[in-house]
Amino acid sequence: MSFLRGIIDSFSSIFTEEHNRCKESQHDPSVSASSSSGSMDGVDGVPVSNERIAYKLKGYFDLAKEEIAKGVRAEEWGLHDDALLHYRNAQRIMSEASSTPSPSYISSSEKEKVRSYREKISKWQNQVSERLQALAKRTGVGMSENKRTVPLPSSASVSSTASNRRVSSQKTSLPKGGIGMARSPKDATANPKPAKETGNGYDDKLVEMINTTIVDRSPSVKWDDVAGLDGAKQALLEMVILPTKRRDLFTGLRRPARGLLLFGPPGNGKTMLAKAVASESQATFFNVSASSLTSKWVGEAEKLVKTLFQVAISRQPSVIFMDEIDSIMSTRSTNENEASRRLKSEFLIQFDGVTSNPDDLVIVIGATNKPQELDDAVLRRLVKRIYVPLPDSNVRKLLFKTKLKSQPHSLSGGDIDKIVRETEGYSGSDLQALCEEAAMMPIRELGANILTIQANKVRPLRYDDFRRSMGVIRASLSKSKWEELERWNSEFGSN
Ligand SMILES: Nc1ncnc2c1ncn2[C@@H]1O[C@H](COP(=O)(O)OP(=O)(O)OP(=O)(O)O)[C@@H](O)[C@H]1O
Ligand SMILES: [Mg+2]
Repeated sequence: MSFLRGIIDSFSSIFTEEHNRCKESQHDPSVSASSSSGSMDGVDGVPVSNERIAYKLKGYFDLAKEEIAKGVRAEEWGLHDDALLHYRNAQRIMSEASSTPSPSYISSSEKEKVRSYREKISKWQNQVSERLQALAKRTGVGMSENKRTVPLPSSASVSSTASNRRVSSQKTSLPKGGIGMARSPKDATANPKPAKETGNGYDDKLVEMINTTIVDRSPSVKWDDVAGLDGAKQALLEMVILPTKRRDLFTGLRRPARGLLLFGPPGNGKTMLAKAVASESQATFFNVSASSLTSKWVGEAEKLVKTLFQVAISRQPSVIFMDEIDSIMSTRSTNENEASRRLKSEFLIQFDGVTSNPDDLVIVIGATNKPQELDDAVLRRLVKRIYVPLPDSNVRKLLFKTKLKSQPHSLSGGDIDKIVRETEGYSGSDLQALCEEAAMMPIRELGANILTIQANKVRPLRYDDFRRSMGVIRASLSKSKWEELERWNSEFGSN
């Protein structure tokens, strides 16, 4: 991995020079005056106003720097596709920067800054081209291929986010040996499996397994599919969706909490909500189940957790979703097995690692219907705890209306109100089952005709179908369980 060290060092030296220069320019009144006034003009070949060109180039420079940092990091982790993607994005940003013309008249101090940015950008372009060539050779991907590139932000967004991005990219971008936690020779000897592992001591197979089976690429649930749960949606919007879309706004005091717990009775939309987050946010979504952690990789679970967090950091913004988190992170007991204890400890260490770096955006979301069984140390880290309750009458009504949309029925508004009243205590999944059962009633009446009847001749659903189905599909949660969760919510919940 010495080639990586080389590129990290050469990028780092440019970053460092730039960092010092930026610091100086913060004290330069001409730069701050130009950066604080008005909007940015001039995109794609349209001349920008006199004193803005250096500022605009700096915006491109910061964006490119961020992409390069991500590329270097991805390369470190053996995620070559991701590295290619980030380097290509950087290349696009830089070629946009070099094709931005300078205005005919600019002051001599501005001219000097412009010259220095152009020089640095051109140096970077060469470095990135080299990396792309090397990666293309290794992965066999054509250099001209340009899939999955991020859209280049408009000049306005370059200007509005550049200064915030500078701060975050300096830290995340400069690996300076920091990413390679397991890089020391000691680690290498402690783990004698060179053929299987990447240069960082991580098993290629684990990284591959995370990328193929844990990264959720087919989020199927949309935000509006989840009925009600406005409080939970608002919390997820503020904590995950907006910060992943506008990282520049969510810094400092607005820095989102990194740990969130969705808890509540079974079948009321916790998993659904998390899936909706996966499709609505711009984060890489890691869907971790107890089985992927424990059964597939017996004895290697804690190694998987460690690798998982590292991959999540390299692909941030990321969301690590642990469904049924109680089954892996329950209260430590004296007779629990060693593997499970190690798994929990590793999770806590990794979680603290991502929360201690203010520039990492890795959010852990856990879901459980047994919050009282969670390990205290885990619970303490999941600072925001959102209760996902049984649907109230408004949500039940909404759910029925949605479910009945695709089904011919003769229910009046009054009938629906009656069903809503009669299904108090039903969970979202109970209601789904009730509707499915009711929908079968007209079919069961058909007897032998079922094979010949035209689909549009089946009678529509009516109130009586639901009334009879309620005899079969009952509320699945006993009142005592439900009350226990309510009590836990009032003691530990955030809402
Ligand atoms: N708020 C809701 N809006 C729409 N459908 C819902 C809602 N809540 C539950 N459902 C229905 O119930 C099913 C189960 O929901 P989900 O799997 O999200 O529950 P859960 O809270 O994760 O339950 P568990 O604690 O058992 O994992 C969903 O597939 C959906 O059909
Ligand atoms: Mg669930």
